Amino acid sequence: MKILVVGGGGREHAIIKKIKENKDVTAVYALPGNGGIAADATCVDVKATDITGITAFAVSAGIDYAVVAPDDPLVLGLVDALEEKGIPCFGPRKNAAIIEGSKVFAKNLMKKYGIPTAEYRVFDDAAAALAYVEQAPLPTVVKADGLALGKGVVIAQTRQQARDAVVEIMEDKKFGRSGDHIVVEEFLTGPEVSVLAFTDGETLVPMVSSMDHKRAGDHDTGLNTGGMGTIAPNPYYTEEIAQTCMQTIFLPTIRAMKAEGRPFRGCLYFGLMLTPAGPKVIEYNCRFGDPETQVVLPLLQSDLLTVMKATTDGTLAHTPVRFSDRSACCVIMASAGYPAAYEKGYEITLPAAVAGDVYVAGAKREDGRLLTNGGRVLGVTAVADTLPQAVADAYRKVEQIRFENAFYRHDIGARALAAGREII
Ligand code: AMP
Ligand code: GLY
Repeated sequence: MKILVVGGGGREHAIIKKIKENKDVTAVYALPGNGGIAADATCVDVKATDITGITAFAVSAGIDYAVVAPDDPLVLGLVDALEEKGIPCFGPRKNAAIIEGSKVFAKNLMKKYGIPTAEYRVFDDAAAALAYVEQAPLPTVVKADGLALGKGVVIAQTRQQARDAVVEIMEDKKFGRSGDHIVVEEFLTGPEVSVLAFTDGETLVPMVSSMDHKRAGDHDTGLNTGGMGTIAPNPYYTEEIAQTCMQTIFLPTIRAMKAEGRPFRGCLYFGLMLTPAGPKVIEYNCRFGDPETQVVLPLLQSDLLTVMKATTDGTLAHTPVRFSDRSACCVIMASAGYPAAYEKGYEITLPAAVAGDVYVAGAKREDGRLLTNGGRVLGVTAVADTLPQAVADAYRKVEQIRFENAFYRHDIGARALAAGREII
């Protein structure tokens, strides 16, 4: 079987490594992939958002199954375009990817179907939004409607910050058309949990829970990033909470999408906050998380490609999905300066002993050397019997990897380990 994976980050590298465990896979193509992924797949220089280029390649290469991993091609309708050419895909169609593509859609869906989330107001007019934030309880949360590279959310502690956020998003169009509408919502508190779930639109199977670390600096300081590290499972996510989420959030969401004529197939990502009033949805993503995938997939014991195809064929109810009860930790090694300006082009020294556990996010290959080529450069994962061991092993591996200007957080897993001690 010839498999196509769209995307070129650490998440895609983790997906590719796992898919290759299936013996029927004869070739894997990554579009565009990256210099590290090139060790595991044939990289083809076509952008993940080039719908025409990707479908043309898929047809000419005789692709049997495609995995669309990033948000933007999903929201643009790449799955629909590939299906039109007769190529089955992992991922939602455009009309279901809107659950991530529009926060206004997601909030209204949750309200209509009684799915717990923060109280909110929607605005399509800056003057009305500005009037509202003058009296909204502080802190207040201002979100651009559309995709904004994870940066379209402002937690405003003061009225001035709230006003600035409204002006930057709606008037200065910092995120382009994504700011035509905004959501202003209630500030929630509690531990955050990421739950990715396989779904074929009818059946939903949650994967092992995880915890992201979004801020750039130790102890949750600095700017928001795409994610600086993850651990799994998330100790805050107890069996009891998992059952509550299944009944009040997960199943109601896929039923709601079906009722709206937008059946969701693929990976649905629930960004949850465990508030004093119970678990609530912070956000939905229509895809695997990055770097959640780099800790979740190493714990998957079932064959990934078989499970993916079951979400496409509608046979997930009859397909076993098993996870190991071990723990995993992924530490992101980034270029100094990320998520703001950073330099690239530095050689990466990656000893063979650790390379197998490294997912390459931003690197290129030149004259046989691997060079840094992105903000997030590597995801270094370790799997162990316990979380403390996984965290220690991941950092031991990080210390063996070198590139100039490298930076990483030193406290990935610290909060989870403290929580684990509280819970025990
Ligand atoms: P998002 O891009 O929607 O995941 O938001 C980014 C981060 O902002 C989340 O991971 C939360 O930490 C935080 N956040 C978003 N919405 C809220 C909210 N209503 N209350 C508190 N924190 C929030
Ligand atoms: N790590 C968060 C995300 O993938 O959106």
